[in-house]
Amino acid sequence: MKKKSLAITDVHAREILDSRGNPTVEAIVTVNDCYEGRAGVPSGASTGKFEAVELRDGELRYMGLGVQKAVNNVNTKIKEALIGIDVCDQKLIDYILIDTDGTENKGSLGANATLSVSMAAARAAAEALNIPLYRYLGGVRPNRLPVPMMNILNGGRHATNTVDFQEFMIMPVKAVSFKEGLRICAEIYHNLKKICHERGLSTGVGDEGGFAPDLPDATAVLDVIVEAVKAAGYKPDEEVKIAIDAAASELYNEDDKKYHFSGETQLKRKWAGVENDFYDETDESREITRTTEEMIAYYEELIERFPIVSIEDGLAEDDWDGWQELTKRIGKKVQLVGDDLFVTNTKRLDAGIKLEVANAILVKVNQIGTVSEAIEAVEMAQNNGYKAVISHRSGETEDTFIADLAVAMNAGQIKTGAPCRSDRVAKYNRLLGIEEELGKVSVYMDPFHKL
Ligand code: PGA
Ligand code: ZN
Repeated sequence: MKKKSLAITDVHAREILDSRGNPTVEAIVTVNDCYEGRAGVPSGASTGKFEAVELRDGELRYMGLGVQKAVNNVNTKIKEALIGIDVCDQKLIDYILIDTDGTENKGSLGANATLSVSMAAARAAAEALNIPLYRYLGGVRPNRLPVPMMNILNGGRHATNTVDFQEFMIMPVKAVSFKEGLRICAEIYHNLKKICHERGLSTGVGDEGGFAPDLPDATAVLDVIVEAVKAAGYKPDEEVKIAIDAAASELYNEDDKKYHFSGETQLKRKWAGVENDFYDETDESREITRTTEEMIAYYEELIERFPIVSIEDGLAEDDWDGWQELTKRIGKKVQLVGDDLFVTNTKRLDAGIKLEVANAILVKVNQIGTVSEAIEAVEMAQNNGYKAVISHRSGETEDTFIADLAVAMNAGQIKTGAPCRSDRVAKYNRLLGIEEELGKVSVYMDPFHKL
């Protein structure tokens, strides 16, 4: 039988806005002049220094953040290279994108340009074949709904509060389904809001929809989260676990090789002499810092006191020795996720696996710039006993590609923000639809049952 031809007949991009009001790329891939696939590219704030290049115009408009050059690259070079190619040949499409770019880090076309087309092509193929995106990406395997790693309290680069660690997340590991897990998370989120309000703490939200109150340190944040879990009627540890993204590269200072906690310093300074003896009032210049060893000891203390099951970017992206030690010390007890450390890059992940560093990878499609390379990173992780957590960026669009990707890869975990802000909720809502569609064969399970 002759194969049905599904040739790419058009590729078009435009500049749209992301959830922070910054420009990003949207691409539309057309097949046989009738099927269309559309995709929007996300954008990070606490970006790892080894990520693929996000091409920005650097001109006056949008304070330098315009993406007209990336859009133009799609509408000229990428379009020329892809017209006539079979849209179902995702690996070839991605190979052409990588080859047309010609650099190690997508620096010439821009990873925002390549990714928009890579994702839109996958969508167009699914559309032309009349199957759901997760089925197209995952074939016969997909059946597992991811456990949300839901960020309900924001700090670091994602908010202007005093919380230094970037993300505090809840994981409803014992729910019977994704739908029930989502409900549990939303109920805890609303209880957290109530508690913050009652204490006179801010209930404004950060970039990923989590609340962003001024709290002095991680212990205070974890206390309030445990309280919200209980107030919602759930058992911390047994039913709901906690995950942290320290985003420690943002705290690290190359000069003194220490992690700087400026929010903790600021609040404890304000309170000095009133209710804490940690800060020495006589020393104006003193900032709260932690060495690598002190960071590891800090995590040991936190996992002892709280039901923490996952720590992401606990140390900086270059601190390989520290990561080795961290993995040795707590890698058997908790999931250690490399985000800025691995940047969805198989070369960095391979190095990490050889060094026995971390035990999971965070997968962000725009860190690497094509769908095939992101899938390869997931496969490398899974084949080596590492877990893969599919993730959004702090700057998002309404695009729900990662929800389908998480199911396609049976990844078992997704990180896509709070149950607040439509850019975050869109992914959760898409997963509700997928779970319903999978029906009897859908599986929802605790990713840490063996830990
Ligand atoms: P980013 O944050 O998208 O700002 O990099 C998300 C994360 O660090 O996981
Ligand atoms: Zn992270």
